[in-house]
Amino acid sequence: MDAAARVAELRSLIEYHNRRYFELDEPEVSDAEYDELVRELRALEDAHPDLLTPDSPTQRPGGAPTSLFAPVTHAVPMMSLDNAFSFDELQAWGKRMERYISGDVDYVCELKIDGIAMSLRYERGRYVQAATRGDGTTGEDVTENVRTIAAVPKALKNGAAGIPTALEVRGEVYMPIASFTALNEAQGASGGRLFANPRNSAAGSLRQKDPSITAKRDLSFWAYQLGAVEGGPTFTRHSEMLAWLGRLGFPVNPNIETLDTLDDVFAYCQRWMANRHDLPYEIDGVVVKVDDLAQRGELGSTSKAPRWAIAFKFPPEERNTLLKDILVSIGRTGKATPFAQLEPVFVGGSTVGVATLHNEDQVRAKDVRPGDTVVVRKAGDVIPEVVGPVLSKRPTGLRKWHFPKTCPSCGGPLQRLEGESDTFCTNLDCPAQVAARIEHWGSRGAMDIEGLGEKTVYALTGNGLVRTVSDVYALTLEQLMQLEGFAEISARKLLDSIEASKARPLDRMLTGLNIRHLGSEGAKRVARAFGHLDRILDASEEELAAAEGVGQVIAASVREFFDNPANRAEVERLREIGVNFEGPAAPTEPQVLAGKSIVVTGTLPGYSREAAEEAIKARGGKSPGSVSKKTDYVVVGEAPGAAKLSKAEELGIPILDEPAFARLLERGEP
Ligand code: IVH
Repeated sequence: MDAAARVAELRSLIEYHNRRYFELDEPEVSDAEYDELVRELRALEDAHPDLLTPDSPTQRPGGAPTSLFAPVTHAVPMMSLDNAFSFDELQAWGKRMERYISGDVDYVCELKIDGIAMSLRYERGRYVQAATRGDGTTGEDVTENVRTIAAVPKALKNGAAGIPTALEVRGEVYMPIASFTALNEAQGASGGRLFANPRNSAAGSLRQKDPSITAKRDLSFWAYQLGAVEGGPTFTRHSEMLAWLGRLGFPVNPNIETLDTLDDVFAYCQRWMANRHDLPYEIDGVVVKVDDLAQRGELGSTSKAPRWAIAFKFPPEERNTLLKDILVSIGRTGKATPFAQLEPVFVGGSTVGVATLHNEDQVRAKDVRPGDTVVVRKAGDVIPEVVGPVLSKRPTGLRKWHFPKTCPSCGGPLQRLEGESDTFCTNLDCPAQVAARIEHWGSRGAMDIEGLGEKTVYALTGNGLVRTVSDVYALTLEQLMQLEGFAEISARKLLDSIEASKARPLDRMLTGLNIRHLGSEGAKRVARAFGHLDRILDASEEELAAAEGVGQVIAASVREFFDNPANRAEVERLREIGVNFEGPAAPTEPQVLAGKSIVVTGTLPGYSREAAEEAIKARGGKSPGSVSKKTDYVVVGEAPGAAKLSKAEELGIPILDEPAFARLLERGEP
């Protein structure tokens, strides 16, 4: 395709997506995909200036007003911002600022709130109008809807500096994440429309003919800019203006910072990129603005965006991709979990090919169907999720997906109990369950058998060598060497780690046994309370429930598990094999050093080195053999190790003598 044809195509695509985003609140591409189209168009226009036209979408902001609300002309246009998608681009912008401007540049860093830009108008201190950005020149009159937002002041506080006769304050209307989730839950329950994200729900809530509907939605507002102003004080800095807005009663985001170097600006961006999910509202970047208003004047604006500000955009956390199929996996408890098989897509920092769909009700509520284009979201540490289908892209005739009636692994019936959301395969011999149980036994939090991963377990259970966890300990070198991918060295390594697993403490074995409701924390509590598996086998349900942090539910489940003759027989097999049944007994010392790391070096008058370390561990602390950044204290006796001492000094770690150590053991502080 030649450049002219591609430019034409990109323009019509961008116009189409503008309409979906700004007018219909139903975007069908993610922001990142939209941005990519604009960037490609801009690059082509840069390379072929003859193709640039004044009506190109690169020359003006997106939205165009629709007829639902009366038009409002912005006396001062509502511009959009240029974007930086990497630190390099941000750096290039910053360097340009510092070259262009006479004198030092201070930057104001603000969170880029993912909401709806709004211009609020006040006359003689009274709220008179609210307008959306629209195309930047003409927006929509949403005065009555915005009046219902509690955070938007209706009368300004009489600040010392006086109130302008006319004042336009610009900012972002947004919906807190918790309110968005609650709204979608309510919408789902009443069969209403679901919103894709908080931004769309804010837009949809504003775009209501009836303001009483908007009033029921939890919307809020952050102020960050001025529009047209008549009278009132003048400012020399943006930061001063923000402080003044706060005094007038506008909500101004508390995380705004004025910084004087680009390095600090990067650090701010990095910090909020990492911590964005700690906020109760969504942000999609950081807006960096030149603080000095005279410098802003020097820089001026292009037709679309000011030169004195830039939006540093975070990498996208939502992407569209093809839902190839919906499959069901069977877990170690028999739980049948539907999951989406996706065309792999890079989102939230990694490539996602599968995403959980949780349970039958979730698939029904989302109504995603194999063949749909779906929105995939991966935010922070959260597991990837399918948000929903892009309905406008659904091919005609796509069939609704139904939960299978039989287990995909053993063919047995799948059961969903009354009043529960989960579906189960109830066949204990189901190959998928057997394999998942063995895999769990060998997992990190349980017996930690390196090399006993999913593939190996499937091979071992598939050919019948392993049916229960005790079978793992009967495996021979010859048997392992026959498995695909195994040679003598790898087989020996696996046998060694199987052998080593016999010595794991009691709580790991309890975790690995796959007892319903007993996770690793519960297992630790049970192990700590009883100290030996035989005492657990002998304990009554009441005795179990009386242990610290063990409730009725866990107690009943543990009792039921060990009362089952098959499980009891398995325990006896493990005993014969020589698997350790003992665990740490209940601590007798108060756990004043829990979470602390204390290194001991040299001999202390009252203690041997070992005794000192024991004393630390008995109080919940750790006592590793070397000093690192994670060390909290270094205890120094006679003839200490020179390396440890100098490392401690270098890292600025507090060094304690014997009396300070005694105090530390007693109170947890030196
Ligand atoms: S300043 C001329 N500050 O981002 C400067 N915008 O891509 C205009 N936004 O339309 C905007 N948080 O809807 C500014 N702290 C912030 C912002 C912010 C979010 C939005 C706003 C604007 C868009 C530009």
